[in-house]
Parts: sequence; structure tokens; C-alpha cells
Amino acid sequence: MLTSLKRIFSGAKKLNGEVLVTGGTGFIGSHTVVDLLENGYSVVIVDNLSNSSIKVLDRVKEIVGDGPYENLSFYDVDIRDAEELKKVFSEHAIKSVIHFAGFKAVGESVQKPLEYYDNNIAGTTTLCRVMSENGCKSIIFSSSSTVYGDPDELPLTELSPKKPATNPYGWTKWMIEQILTDLYVADNSWDVVLLRYFNPIGAHESGLIGEDPKGIPNNLVPYIAQTAVGKRSEVHVFGNDYDTPDGTGVRDYIHVVDLAAGHVAALKWMQGKTGVEIFNLGTGAGSSVLEVIKAYGSAVGKEIPFVVEERRSGDIAQNYADASKAQKILGWKAKRSLDDMVKDSWRFQSKNPEGLSD
Ligand code: NAD
Ligand code: UFG
Repeated sequence: MLTSLKRIFSGAKKLNGEVLVTGGTGFIGSHTVVDLLENGYSVVIVDNLSNSSIKVLDRVKEIVGDGPYENLSFYDVDIRDAEELKKVFSEHAIKSVIHFAGFKAVGESVQKPLEYYDNNIAGTTTLCRVMSENGCKSIIFSSSSTVYGDPDELPLTELSPKKPATNPYGWTKWMIEQILTDLYVADNSWDVVLLRYFNPIGAHESGLIGEDPKGIPNNLVPYIAQTAVGKRSEVHVFGNDYDTPDGTGVRDYIHVVDLAAGHVAALKWMQGKTGVEIFNLGTGAGSSVLEVIKAYGSAVGKEIPFVVEERRSGDIAQNYADASKAQKILGWKAKRSLDDMVKDSWRFQSKNPEGLSD
């Protein structure tokens, strides 16, 4: 049974209350697993390694140390595989789920809509069915500020309207929020927290884990990082004619370690509650593309070359969060600055120029 589950190892004891982290070897998941282990949680990761490396587990061990690492189990399982998921639930006393697993590349989702709808939406419905069958009805979901679309007003609060998505990836976030809300309407014993992330960047300060995209990066900071390390010749700035202070796009970049802490705060807060609650996780401040390139250059100690190009289709001029609800209710606030984010990103990139690829 263990081999069919492709369980690499299992250290977590069947305690009264383990946390299942889907997508736990990915970028945001791995940082959250570190924070959970450091806070004394027993953690069960389910990840099919479609966009992450098994080496992340060694890195997590190096960060948290042998003791906390004993409270971690890992299963190489696809969340769409109900039978394998059931086995995971039968071996652990899962109290809550933090659900990161999914595909996330906007452009790719336009080319491969069925893959995105299947992996993200069918993955989530399968997961929720297995959770329910096992009496586990507590879930934190990785949503995105993409559900706000092109905002009418800034900053964005949780009451700002959701807008139609502009790509299949965005629709999966939009729909999964709705599915989880409907689940609660049908069964009031569910406890659902929807975390709308703004733009997560940075890396753990050890430089051991970080963002490790496969292929050509879609997102700004991984692209800058690969340019800084010499893998790409220059950054392409997508448009400098937006209605923003320097004409380039403005986003609310948030350090991934702060984002991870937001999940632990939400997990603590939700225990014993039922309902659906939405939180923005951002810093409340926007930075332009040119500001990020400049800050990264300062961290590296040399200017990052860039060229200005046409706008990227589907991009908005700016967005940034009002994150005061998370501060008021969860007692969580992002602490790290843009300089911290780029410094930590650069440490990870320079220590791992080829990423963690197997
Ligand atoms: P990531 O790709 O690094 O991590 C996702 C993990 O899920 C990967 O390890 C992958 O192998 C795994 N996975 C994918 N499909 C799976 C499946 N069917 N079964 C099991 N495992 C599967 O991405 P990330 O940046 O860490 O993002 C985590 C979540 O946060 C995603 O849902 C993403 O859409 C969401 N999100 C990310 C951002 C961002 O900019 N990074 C912004 C908003 C929301
Ligand atoms: N940009 C460039 N050059 C690049 C990449 C990006 O100039 O090579 C610009 C974009 O035009 C935008 C800004 O940098 O103005 C940020 O772009 P990203 O691709 O890094 O991030 P997005 O804001 O487009 O989207 C990200 C995630 C989405 C998520 C969204 C909100 O990719 O999945 O944040 O959380 F939905």
C-alpha cells in the first residue's frame, strides 16, 4: 500500500490534528510548510511534483532541523486521484487543509484551458469530496487578486467587486472561490478561508528555498533574477505608457515569508469556526516595474539591463491591496520591504543558479 501511494517518507505522527498541505513542495507551499513546522504543527504534504522538485524536502529539513522535520510526511500524489487521497486521509488525522496545488501560468492557461480547468477545478472538487467523507471540513484556499480584474478603485478591499476573468487561470480562481462558497451554503459545518494573494516574490532568508520556475519565467521577478544571474540578456518591460507615476505597471509585491505567515495566522484563527471568510494578503503599497528592476540592481550591485516593449495583453495598469482586514481579524501584517524581497530573491538565485531542478 505504501508503494502504491508513492509515499517517499512519513514522519508525522497520527496526532490529534495534522495539517494537509496540497502543493506543499511548490513556491508558496514550501515556505508555509517551514512556518507550520516551526510553529509545532504536524504537516502532511500531497504534491505530484508537476511543478516542483523533491529536493525541496531536504532544504526544508536543513531550515527547520531534524526534530520538527520528523513531523512532516510527503506523498507523491495527484489531488485528482480520489483513491490515493483517501489513503492519505486514512493514515492521518487531518484537521485542516491548506490548498495550494494547481497550475498557475496565465499564458499557458490560454493555450491549454482543459488542462487548467481539470487540474485546478476537478482537483479541488475531488479534494473537497474526500475531505467531507473523512469529516474534515476546514480549508484555506490560495486565491488571487486576479479575481478583482481591472479595478475601479484602489486600494482593493475584500468588498471590491469581482470582475470577469480574462484567462482560464483567472476563471479557475474565480470559480473555486464560488464552489467553496456554495459548499458552505449547502453544509454550514464547512469552514472556508479564501486568501487573495497579491504578487508573492522573494525567498526564505536562508537562500535554500525560493521560486524555481521551469522554462522561461512568466513573472517579473523571476525574469529579473535570471537576467541578474546571466541566464537572460535583458528584462522586457511590458509597456511604459500606463497611467502610473513612471508609466510602467504597479503591483503590490509581498514577501513569500510574510505570505506564509498569513496562512499560519488564518489557520490559528479559523479553528472551531464555520463560515466563509475572505482576506487580502498584500502590503498595501504598490511598486512599478522600473522600481523593482532598480531595487533588484541595488541588491545585486549592478544595473539590470532592460528594454521597453509593447504592453502584454490582459495586463492591468495597477493594483494594490487594502490588507487591513487581515491585520484586524488575523493579527497579521506584512513586515518585509521591497528591498528585503529582492535581497532574498537574489540570495536564492545566486546560490542556486540552475534552480533545484532534478
Ligand atoms: P507552484 O507551482 O510553485 O506550486 C504549486 C504546487 O502544486 C507545485 O508543487 C505542483 O507540483 C503542485 N501541483 C499542481 N497540480 C497538482 C495536482 N493535481 N496534484 C498535486 N500537486 C499538484 O505555485 P505557487 O506560486 O506556490 O502557487 C501556489 C498557489 O497559489 C497556486 O494555487 C497559485 O495559483 C496560487 N497563487 C499564486 C500566485 C503567484 O504569483 N505565485 C499568486 C496568486 C495565487
Ligand atoms: N512584467 C514585465 N516584464 C515581464 C513580466 C512582467 O514588465 O517579463 C510586468 C507586468 O506587465 C506587470 C508586472 O510586471 O506590470 C507584474 O507582472 P507579473 O507577471 O509578475 O505578475 P501579474 O501581476 O501579471 O500576475 C501575478 C500572477 C498571477 C496572479 C496575480 C495576482 O502571475 O497569477 O499576480 O496575484 F493572479
